[in-house]
Amino acid sequence: SKKILKDPYGRKVTGLRISVTDRCNLSCIYCHNEGADCSTCGPVGREMKPELICGIVREAVKFGINKVKFSGGEPLFRKDFEEILACLPPLKEVSATTNGILLEKRAKALKAAGLDRVNISLDSLVPEKYEAITGAPSGSLEKVIRGIDSAVEAGLTPVKLNMVLLKGVNDNEIDSMMDFIRQYKGKVILQLIELMDIDPRLSKYIIDSKDLERSLAEKASEIKVRNLHHRKKYIIDGAEVEFVRPMDNSEFCAHCSRLRVTADGKFKPCLLVNDNLVDVSDAKSPEEIEKLLELAVSRRKPYYVPVRVPEKKKKI
Ligand code: GTP
Ligand code: 5AD
Repeated sequence: SKKILKDPYGRKVTGLRISVTDRCNLSCIYCHNEGADCSTCGPVGREMKPELICGIVREAVKFGINKVKFSGGEPLFRKDFEEILACLPPLKEVSATTNGILLEKRAKALKAAGLDRVNISLDSLVPEKYEAITGAPSGSLEKVIRGIDSAVEAGLTPVKLNMVLLKGVNDNEIDSMMDFIRQYKGKVILQLIELMDIDPRLSKYIIDSKDLERSLAEKASEIKVRNLHHRKKYIIDGAEVEFVRPMDNSEFCAHCSRLRVTADGKFKPCLLVNDNLVDVSDAKSPEEIEKLLELAVSRRKPYYVPVRVPEKKKKI
């Protein structure tokens, strides 16, 4: 039987979240840069090569890890992203989170290379707002929407639209966003995201998550709970809405099952923590990668909400 990776808090690791680049064509006002300090973001030369990425995943699979999420920066900045996808071992699920601007022309090739689905960041359907939030030039929102259409056509489904809720900016657009996804007949899911307070300047944008959760629950014909982060999903007039509540949810960190890998090849025990990294970029053998993977898992610690260390079963 396979060895399983469990951290000191008893949390099983079943997925990897791999950043393939720190580079991005947007500058979103809220961006957490996957927790990285972007004074050291880039350069291209430090990014992991496809062989290293696939080597890491091959070792992870031996521990029963069967899901991989690729993130950035903007992962489509990697011209060799298809090459990365193509060298992966068989997995239950391979997904990527992209801003969608470069997606339209590549969706088909990504699917063919082995990508199962995509999440696309889309915080507003109003061009001026979209541009103010992301710093994108005008015309970008249409590109993202063409990217969504193309992803749906290519079968990169379900496509999830990531909407980070910003009080006074886009929190009045939840209904229009639900209407927008209804046209895709279940192939597109709306993922509402509670803003993470990575900077005190963002605190004015933080919405009341409990209030929103209540109103979603009132309107829903069905509510499901996902294992990952204990996230809730609401079905509202045929629209599927998933609510990501990292801060205001005592279950979030307790149900975290992913280990992160930075673009320059370091295991990261938590998305939002930058110490305790485990450098895997110089690993010389699969055995070494395996050891580093175990070390990184042993350093995992919950971030937002404390999780109790499970008591060791006493021997009688
Ligand atoms: P899937 O639903 O399986 O596609 O994964 P996902 O929703 O985690 O992917 P995505 O990259 O689209 O992230 C959605 C939101 O969840 C973003 O705001 C992420 O920052 C946040 N998120 C993902 N993992 C973590 C985590 O471990 N900790 C925190 N605090 N936030 C996370
Ligand atoms: N809070 C919540 N979500 C964030 N994202 C980026 N920064 C934050 C933050 N401060 C989300 C974006 C993107 C995903 C990778 O992370 O919506 O889709």
